[in-house]
Amino acid sequence: MRMMTCIEDLRRSARRKVPRMFFDYADRGSYAEETLRRNRADLERIKLRQRVLVDVSQRELATTIAGERVTLPLALAPIGLCGMQWGDGEVLACRAAQSAGIPFCLSTMSVCSIEDVAGAVERPFWFQLYVMRDRGFVRALIERAVAARCSALVLTVDLQVLGQRHCDVRNGMTVPPEIRIRNLIEMATKPAWTASILRGRRRTFGNLAGHIRGMENVNSLAQWIAGQFDPSLSWKDVEWIRGLWGGPLIIKGLLDVEDARRAAKTGAAAIVVSNHGGRQLDGAVSSIAALPAIAEAVGSEVEVMLDGGIRSGQDVLRALALGARSCMIGRAYVYGLGAGGERGVARAIEIIRSELDVSMALTGVARLRDIGPQVLTQA
Ligand code: GLV
Repeated sequence: MRMMTCIEDLRRSARRKVPRMFFDYADRGSYAEETLRRNRADLERIKLRQRVLVDVSQRELATTIAGERVTLPLALAPIGLCGMQWGDGEVLACRAAQSAGIPFCLSTMSVCSIEDVAGAVERPFWFQLYVMRDRGFVRALIERAVAARCSALVLTVDLQVLGQRHCDVRNGMTVPPEIRIRNLIEMATKPAWTASILRGRRRTFGNLAGHIRGMENVNSLAQWIAGQFDPSLSWKDVEWIRGLWGGPLIIKGLLDVEDARRAAKTGAAAIVVSNHGGRQLDGAVSSIAALPAIAEAVGSEVEVMLDGGIRSGQDVLRALALGARSCMIGRAYVYGLGAGGERGVARAIEIIRSELDVSMALTGVARLRDIGPQVLTQA
């Protein structure tokens, strides 16, 4: 893993090791992928301001996220089918996050269930909620998260319907994921991945199997989501969810100032400025472009997090300079998982930690609270 020097190294390795259907599912975006590209391009355009001869010997990266102490302003984002990138992927990623001292968020659409992860790790993790039409099931999911002592509930609000990812259609991504002859041939060329999946405890959506009807029939991902997810979800449901949950709530998927103002009034502990990693509304602005106005409007009322395109510590620094308190990474850690399981995720976190630390020093800041627009330059 030492030879993995940056997130792109992990990506290249994961692309070789993980079957295309699952690698593409995580790696790609919706429609023409304009927003996916914009997330990266807009981050890369932001210039950091080099400063010299400032005492940066005592650097401090620890902070809190939604009231939780963390060693780095970073959390692992919820990833659907994480356990198909590597067997038991959710457990491995959660262990890596907890060893590094940052939060891991389990997706509703995970392979390992809430109970599987809770039984395999030592500390509480976050749970991400998708709201299904069957509200009894949603209530039960929240109760399961409470029983598992999850420390925050992340409500994703930007996926009531699915933005089409062309690669999933072409690759035949189904619910539950179905192994076809073509995939079998590919698996023969990916022995480490295949062995990990065979060792893993599940190969379908662990939180849903046995609870949700329609899981037996093989559907396209889009058809299945259209049948199960509730497109009538609205602000009044947020109250209902908050009441059932009772703990820290994080609302993920905001890109608009008016929506962010509304979210801040729900009593949420944090909001995540996000376009779902360019996987939903193609043509939307990048997360980083949406951040400054949202941070300005609600940053004093609610903690603002950002995800979308974060691939380095320099990117985290850019987001913090523009008003985020912390960031989430999705693909950046999924590449680590595909490249090397738990060690790969640990490496992804370590890379970003070290890049943030060095970039803070070179922009002349030692403490997170001193990061502001002054670390950026227009030139
Ligand atoms: C699920 O959250 C996805 O983006 O596929």
